Amino acid sequence: MKAFYFLTMNSIIEQLRIKLTQALTASFGLARADIDSMVVPASNPNFGDYQSNVALSLSKQLGQQPRAIAQQIVQNLDVSGICQPPSIAGPGFINLTLEPAYLEAQLSDIHTDLRLGVESVAAPQSIIVDFSSPNIAKEMHVGHLRSTIIGDAIARILEFRGHDVLRLNHVGDWGTQFGMLIAYLREAYPAALTTSNALDLGDLVTFYRQAKQRFDADEEFQDKARQEVVKLQAGVEDTQQAWQLLCEQSRREFKIIYNWLDIHLTERGESFYNPLLPAVVKDLEKSSLLVEDAGAKCVFLEGFTNKDGKPLPLIVQKSDGGYNYATTDLAALRYRIEQDKADRIIYVTDAGQANHFAQVFQVARRAGWLIKEIEVVHIPFGLVQGEDGKKLKTRSGETVRLRDLLDEAIARARADLEARLQAEGREETEEFKAHVAQVIGLSAVKYADLSQNRNSNYIFSFDKMLSLQGNTAPYLLYAYARIQSISRKGEIDFQRLEANAKILLQQETELALGKHLLQLSEVLTDVERDLLPNRLCQYLYELSQKFNQFFEQCPVLWSEEPVRTSRLVLCDLTARTLKLGLSLLGIGVLERM
Ligand code: ARG
Repeated sequence: MKAFYFLTMNSIIEQLRIKLTQALTASFGLARADIDSMVVPASNPNFGDYQSNVALSLSKQLGQQPRAIAQQIVQNLDVSGICQPPSIAGPGFINLTLEPAYLEAQLSDIHTDLRLGVESVAAPQSIIVDFSSPNIAKEMHVGHLRSTIIGDAIARILEFRGHDVLRLNHVGDWGTQFGMLIAYLREAYPAALTTSNALDLGDLVTFYRQAKQRFDADEEFQDKARQEVVKLQAGVEDTQQAWQLLCEQSRREFKIIYNWLDIHLTERGESFYNPLLPAVVKDLEKSSLLVEDAGAKCVFLEGFTNKDGKPLPLIVQKSDGGYNYATTDLAALRYRIEQDKADRIIYVTDAGQANHFAQVFQVARRAGWLIKEIEVVHIPFGLVQGEDGKKLKTRSGETVRLRDLLDEAIARARADLEARLQAEGREETEEFKAHVAQVIGLSAVKYADLSQNRNSNYIFSFDKMLSLQGNTAPYLLYAYARIQSISRKGEIDFQRLEANAKILLQQETELALGKHLLQLSEVLTDVERDLLPNRLCQYLYELSQKFNQFFEQCPVLWSEEPVRTSRLVLCDLTARTLKLGLSLLGIGVLERM
């Protein structure tokens, strides 16, 4: 059995940055903190693996030709043991090509590392990820699906890096709509307000729609609804209880989806902040930010104007005394800073809420609650479109229910699987088929979402996401299963491969695979900073491609030692990297499919 231990090592790019910074200090006496070594992956693999254009950027400051600067840097640059001697190209680009022996040693090291060379951060932060956040008594829709999938992946990656992550579900469980709904149910279906399980979320959504119609048409009903709001605010028991039941009904439905998707969240809905709202208004008043405008209390924003060019107000208390979405977010932000002591707060919602967050952040900053040491970021995402390029709708033109969408993904994955089994003349148990269809269907949906740059809209296509070809979950899952079948065929227990097996990167495809395997840590550092999970997807996709190329060119089981073991280790490392990477996207693997 090989001994697993945790390695501490910098990613290759970080090591090169350190080396280059040392060379810059040695050449020009530049203070370390002032310079960026500008090491990036090479834009063209023909020039090497990494490059730095720092000589060009220093030219003006040093009053020298870039090429001369590059020469001095290279003279002082000690990358022996890591790279081949550095070369200078064009006007002064420094090109670095990794030494195969170095790559071989690194691969041999990460082989025994459970974290595959990805270090935990030295100074863990306290991070809040606010995601999913559906609304009570409304159906969870495709937008919430995006938030759920993206938020979960981000949380998983940050957790893996060793941060202390609080995953918050800011559910819409408070507001005047509950008055309307409760007033309506009292007339139409009183049992729903006194017994749990009386309603399905679907019914609740229908009642909600009817209640809204009633509210818009009937003044007397509006009064009743307002009284219910007052009772709810005042904590009158039977209204409170009715509200609780409505929340529970919705929660049950959300839970089904969360279970399917393996999502874990702490619910802290809007109602949680209700008692804290008056203080928000009061403190804004104290810091002289509050202005009364037509009876409403608001803060005039900087940099936001209405169509007449006048500063836009952010209303924090309406003229009827009620609070709104923004007030709640201000209270929540404050709570997260003061009580949760968050260092970084990440909000995952559709791009349509970008202004809302920019405004809330601005007010919190001006009020002095949000200090510059704390990073708040809104992680926007685009729309999910149907194959016609329009907002995703059912055939009858309604919002697509998430449950139906996931059901269909699984059903289609099942049909694909049955066809494949038949074509291959395979027999499998019902249990196997159900499991495989579920994993493929759900991961296809997740991966299709995550593999797109979240800022853009994407077209939801079952055919594309379930395809075994291209940048899809089935393609990656298949690469993983293929490696497991090598271990079955050769009766090899990957866990028992020699711990310090020598790795040999002799063929082109071996070298390419080996280099790629060593980039995981670099990619995760990028995702941690930019919060773009599609970078990780792209990495895993390229890994599968590079593995497939290697596997086509290089016999594994049939080769002689020591090449055989080396290639088996490359297979194992690929499988473990895929498994880890996919798990960070919330996707499980299949040993067989
Ligand atoms: N419930 C909101 C919606 O469905 C999303 C809440 C996002 N989080 C927040 N802190 N505002 O659009």
